[in-house]
Parts: sequence; C-alpha cells; structure tokens
Amino acid sequence: MERLKGKHILLGVTGGIAAYKSAELVRQLRQADTEVRVVLTRAAAQFVTPLTFQALSGYPVPTDLFDPGAESAMGHIELARWADAILIAPATAHTIARLTHGLADDLLATICLASSAPLALAPAMNQQMWFNQATRANIHQLKERGVHLFGPAEGDQACGENGPGRMLEPEQLLQQLVALFTPPFLAGVQVMVTAGPTLEDIDPVRYLGNRSSGKMGYAVAAAAQQAGAEVVLISGVSSQPRPERVKCINVRSAVEMHETVMQRVHQCDIFIAAAAVADYRPQQQSKQKIKKDYSHLKLELVRNPDILADVCALADGPFCVGFAAETERVVEHAQAKRVAKGADMIAANRVGLPGSGFEGDENALEIFWPGGGTTLPLNSKPEIARQLVELIGQHYKQTGK
Ligand code: PMT
Repeated sequence: MERLKGKHILLGVTGGIAAYKSAELVRQLRQADTEVRVVLTRAAAQFVTPLTFQALSGYPVPTDLFDPGAESAMGHIELARWADAILIAPATAHTIARLTHGLADDLLATICLASSAPLALAPAMNQQMWFNQATRANIHQLKERGVHLFGPAEGDQACGENGPGRMLEPEQLLQQLVALFTPPFLAGVQVMVTAGPTLEDIDPVRYLGNRSSGKMGYAVAAAAQQAGAEVVLISGVSSQPRPERVKCINVRSAVEMHETVMQRVHQCDIFIAAAAVADYRPQQQSKQKIKKDYSHLKLELVRNPDILADVCALADGPFCVGFAAETERVVEHAQAKRVAKGADMIAANRVGLPGSGFEGDENALEIFWPGGGTTLPLNSKPEIARQLVELIGQHYKQTGK
C-alpha cells in the first residue's frame, strides 16, 4: 500500500446500510498510513455514529455545513483543499443525483463542489434503483465529468433482492484507491494472467488439486489493470472476487487452461503465469464413480502440457513471466526453471511453510531475469503484486518486445 502512504483521503459516508463497512475501510486506510477525514451526511448518522469514525480516524467527524465548531477549525473549503482524493462510500442514489446537479445543500456535497481532488463513488443501492433511468443518466453524466466509479458489485442485497448495487468490500475499495494514485505506465498494453489451481478429474466426484487459492494471481491481474493495462485473467477454480475491470475466463483443468491461453495469447504483450498448474492428470477419467472394491488402486498419470513453456516458445510471443513454487533451494531451482522454460523473468516463492506462498494473504518473492534479480520482502499479496507489476513494466519496456 506504498502508494497510499501519507495521502489525504476524505471519506464521505452517506445513508445506506453498507455504511457499517466504511468503518472497516477507515481502519484499513489508517493501517496503510493514510490520513483520513470522515464526513457523514445526516442520513448516514442514522446508520452509524460519528463517534465510531472519530475513534477510527482520530479526527472529529463533521455532519453539518453550519456547525460553528467545525467551520472555525477546518471548514468545508479547508477540507476541500486538504483532500488528495474524495471517496464517497457508500454513495446512495440520492447523493449521486445531488452530485450530478451540483447541489451544495450539505457539508459533503459542498466539499465535493469546492474541491479539485479526484472524486470516486462506491454506489450502494437496491438493484432496481441502480437500473432506474434517472440513476443511469446521472452515472453517465458523472463519468463523463471524470468521476471515478468503484463498483458496484453484484450479489445478494440487504433488501432481499439480488443484482448489481452492492458496495464493494473495503479491501476492494482500498485497491481502487491505490489505482487512483498509480500512474498508468501500462496504458495500451494487453496483459494475460493465469491464476489459481487446475483440478484434474479422476471420476465425477474426485479430482487431483493443489493448495492455490488464486489470491496471488488475482492480485497480479488487479495490479496490472491498475497500472492501465487491459487484462485477461484465465482462472482455475477460485473463490476470489473478480478484480474490477478485468476480463475473467474460468477454466478447470490444465488442458482447458492451455487451450484457452493458446487461443488468445497472440493478442497479448505480457503473459504472467501465476497459476499452479498440475504437471500430471489421470490418464483416464472414469465416467462413473470408482467403487472401493479394491484393496489397492493404481492411478496412471500422464504429463500435462506446459503452458508457460509453450507461450515462451512462440515466435513473436509476449514478454513472459513465470512463477516458481519451491520448497527447497529456491534460488537455484527458480533460475533453472526460468532458463528451461525460456521465460524473460521468474518470480520464485517458497511454499510449504505457513504465512507465505499458497493460500495465505502475504507473500515474498525472489525475482530473476537474465543477468540480474531482486527480492520483494514479505508483504500483502496486493502490495507484492503492485511491486512485481512495476518491475515487469520496466523490463517489458527495456526489452522492447
Ligand atoms: O494462489 P495462491 O494461494 O495465492 O498461491 C500463490 C502461488 C504459490 C500459487 C503462486 O505464487 C505461484 O507460485 N504460482 C506458480 C505455481 C507453480 O505451478 O509453480 P511451478 O514451479 O510448478 O511452475 C513454474 C511455472 O510454470 C509457473 O509459472 C506455472 O504457472 C507454469 N506451469 C507449470 C506447469 C504447467 N503444466 N504449465 C505451466 O504453465
């Protein structure tokens, strides 16, 4: 979260049930060493108290444009000037309409009008309200004016309906804020990322799998998108939320992932293989569930295609980055793997220990390219992904592929 360090974020909270999630967002922003001031609308104060946000942000929380105390200390103009970015989360349909029309009828709307900082909205509303033509037109106008939209996500809603209108989760909002402060150094670049595990079916109920959660690959896809790239994510089975503005294609087996990658890879400039691809699959898949009639059962395995090696071997292929998951002699094995597969760069992580590599929220990488390398020490996967993508961007531009 280096990019958020020291930044001044003004968080506007408006009156929706998702307001409770904004408290967690403030906590995460503070953890990222961000200065946060929170402004609540009157309706928001029906859902959450100013005191909650005061305790979390460390600053008093104004709710009223005509609060003499707040006006004398840091009035709306000072707050408008102070902010590096304004995020309204949740942003209700009502607030979106007020902002579209440039109203200045409360403190938050007045700050937005008086500020030249980038403005981002995290909409949260019932799906019919989201689809309503009035909301559609308001959103269209705001986007035309350069207002950033974070979400909304689709899914179950507090009102019992299902559809678009859920506020993004705090971690996703944090990532979107990082993107706001990331220069688009990969603008115009097409990136393909593989992520997650491949599952190799044995019969209709059993498969061979591995411990990959998809977190690392999804974070890499999000970081590339935040750097301005157009990203296609080819994902094995994973419960991670799809990164915003990333095209995601779901696959199951290594063969399926190989086919999907090879069909589309010609359109991409950078290929990043973060998936944990099974090296072997059962030679035969039983159509029926295998019965436990035997005391021993032999499973014959055959080699899967090597996706990374096949992409690296393409004439006029993309800039190729592999990962190496190693349990021992990490540096030696990773360097040998880079050469054997023909990759331009390889990012090695130690796996098999708790706390990094598979499944966890953090990772550390040893990165190698021809004639050089660097270490990215233990950090959150989104932060490691951001650093890795920055490095990839530099090397991609140097090689001129
Ligand atoms: O998903 P997480 O829980 O967040 O965990 C992240 C991770 C540990 C899975 C990730 O950081 C990682 O290391 N991914 C690569 C895992 C792996 O398969 O490593 P490998 O050393 O076996 O393979 C080397 C490279 O070849 C990898 O880029 C892999 O995607 C690729 N490969 C491997 C086999 C194969 N048949 N086709 C391939 O493309």
